[in-house]
Amino acid sequence: MTILLLDAIKERRSIYSFKKEEVDIELLKEIFTFGTYAPTHYMKEPWQIKLYQKSGKNHFIEEVIKSYQRIGMIKTSKDEKTLKMIDSMREFLNAIPHHALIYYEKENDPIRNDEEYAAVCAFIQNVQLAAWQYGVGVLWTITPYMYDQEFHESVGLDSDVVKIAAVLQMGFPKKVPPMRERTPIEGKLEIIT
Ligand SMILES: Cc1cc2nc3c(=O)[nH]c(=O)nc-3n(C[C@H](O)[C@H](O)[C@H](O)COP(=O)(O)O)c2cc1C
Repeated sequence: MTILLLDAIKERRSIYSFKKEEVDIELLKEIFTFGTYAPTHYMKEPWQIKLYQKSGKNHFIEEVIKSYQRIGMIKTSKDEKTLKMIDSMREFLNAIPHHALIYYEKENDPIRNDEEYAAVCAFIQNVQLAAWQYGVGVLWTITPYMYDQEFHESVGLDSDVVKIAAVLQMGFPKKVPPMRERTPIEGKLEIIT
């Protein structure tokens, strides 16, 4: 089935629940390859991906939980309520077939850094649209552990050198949420003549 680009732009939805079935790695590579056709100043192609799947998710998930504890979003105590919360967090993250951590090498110059971040965001949206064409769902997330220096170290990244731009949750959609209407463009557009 071919979906026209303009239809895909409108019909793509953020996916919050995934089927258990994994997406074949060759298909994921194809989807990420479509991402790479994003515009990129100086052809820097700044996007880098760490893809966590199968048992590779275990370490990632444990480090996310530890980070939430450092940040104070989850308690460190071993009381029943906390342990239950950790278990359900672990279960929730484990049920997502693929976690794609997207990062890029930071630039000291803020203008150059914005250019790299913008290119990475364009890459992500291309990935979302290509995935949609293949029936693969994505949730683009920005979460507090992405700003935790120790979390970076735990996944082999140096926060002085790189920035985590997003973590994409990926898999076949269990449910596609309804479209949320957008504000008519007239409410956003100021025409100066
Ligand atoms: C940069 C960015 C970060 C986002 N982070 C989250 C997130 O952490 N959690 C979440 O549930 N949705 C997140 N979203 C998805 C938005 O909630 C979603 O795009 C919005 O509700 C519109 O729905 P749609 O994508 O289906 O059109 C994020 C979207 C963007 C662009």
